[in-house]
Amino acid sequence: VEIDMVINVPNGRASRVAIVGFGTVGRSVARILCSNEVPQLQLTRIFNRGVARKRVDWVPPSVAWTESIDEALAPDVDLVVELVGGLEPADGWVRRALESGKSVVTANKQLIAHRGASLVELADRCGCELRFEASVAGGVPVLRALQDGLAGDRLVSVTGIVNGTCAYILSRMEHANLRFADALAEAQAAGFAEADPSEDVDGSDAAAKLSILSAIGLRLPVRAADIAARSIRPIERVDFNYAFELGRTIRQIAHASVQPDGSVIAAVGPALVPLDSGFGRVTGSENLVTVRGIFGGETSFLGSGAGGSPTAVAVVSDLLSIHRAWRRRDEHAAGPLTSAARQVSGDIFAPHYVRFVARDRTGIIAAVGSVFARYGLNIDAVLQLPDYPKDRLPFVATLEPCSDSEVRRALADIATLDWVVEPPLSLPMLPFGARREAA
Ligand SMILES: NC(=O)c1ccc[n+]([C@@H]2O[C@H](COP(=O)([O-])OP(=O)(O)OC[C@H]3O[C@@H](n4cnc5c(N)ncnc54)[C@H](OP(=O)(O)O)[C@@H]3O)[C@@H](O)[C@H]2O)c1
Repeated sequence: VEIDMVINVPNGRASRVAIVGFGTVGRSVARILCSNEVPQLQLTRIFNRGVARKRVDWVPPSVAWTESIDEALAPDVDLVVELVGGLEPADGWVRRALESGKSVVTANKQLIAHRGASLVELADRCGCELRFEASVAGGVPVLRALQDGLAGDRLVSVTGIVNGTCAYILSRMEHANLRFADALAEAQAAGFAEADPSEDVDGSDAAAKLSILSAIGLRLPVRAADIAARSIRPIERVDFNYAFELGRTIRQIAHASVQPDGSVIAAVGPALVPLDSGFGRVTGSENLVTVRGIFGGETSFLGSGAGGSPTAVAVVSDLLSIHRAWRRRDEHAAGPLTSAARQVSGDIFAPHYVRFVARDRTGIIAAVGSVFARYGLNIDAVLQLPDYPKDRLPFVATLEPCSDSEVRRALADIATLDWVVEPPLSLPMLPFGARREAA
């Protein structure tokens, strides 16, 4: 045992680690570091505001608890773990750590999605490392897999379920036949959704993760703010009934792809996914990311997207990898985060599901068909389930592959017809395809 330790530890000593932020993930990281499983890493400081109420008896007395950030960034600390979350003050603290020569590991997707480029540049200038595996898909080591395991391919698309709150809500709507509002309330009571759930359900959390995934996987820097995000709020139970008729269910999908003409699509929102696919089977806090490369085809990564322990494993793995590569530069650490952002479009090209709610009368299908025909859209199927009231009759049309923008233009026309009770809902259906190239 002694010999193993010495071989694994450069300079014969463990790296000294400070945890900044002792919340859900911070505690779980401390648990691992205090477990004797990773002798290469020695926890020496724990920082949090109001630190007295945070103390736990399983942390050894050699660890100093502090509410002074200066102490957490003291010269005798080698590695800093940022687990406070949010942009400020985390950003300032990470910069101070890097400027004082400490490598940093963070789980903070907002920080990396919005400030990652300049932080990576700073880390490079300071001869340090910045790692952020836990910022996307929690415990699923997808960034490392894309960066190293698939470095020999050129990836052209990434499609994922990366938000546990949406997966929980949509799978409860599906399996327990709940309305959106009730599934959300249940998720909040169970601790799977925040009091203000907008970041999750309206898509900005997934957009931040997609921006990191596309930088690392597709080597395309895309600003999170440029990613079109659609909310899952308009999804109703009837949409699951119709999706089921089509052999599908509904999940929040984050998707980025390089089109044949070199343009980039990046969008987040609810989509129909085949029931018998990996995406259709994801429930709760599971995350699934599938990438497609020009040589290797499809590769998928599935696992726990959230939760203290899985996320902490990703954090500690990052710490170990820095420890092993001590002062050796990892050339492709996060190159694309440093480049200028790419222009993206949210105009997904795919078969579409369109749900109407109508006051029943004759000629409705013909009217819908003629508007779609005017826009060059082909109906694949029309479905109408029995037992809905005649004055609020939902029915569904599926369309052959077409772009989101074409569908929305047609729906804007249809929305003005007198039998329309509420604005039609359109959702793309997996698998998403490549846009037609202009003739
Ligand atoms: N939880 C997950 O499953 C998960 C998964 C992947 C990534 N992440 C990311 O990991 C990071 C941490 O998440 P978490 O779930 O552990 O959050 P959390 O439980 O809220 O922990 C944050 C900790 O930071 C402390 N803190 C916040 N602001 C502070 C300030 N200004 N000064 C000093 N201390 C401050 C908080 O102290 P108080 O107790 O006083 O508020 C709390 O102890 C976030 O970036 C999150 O997005 C979390």
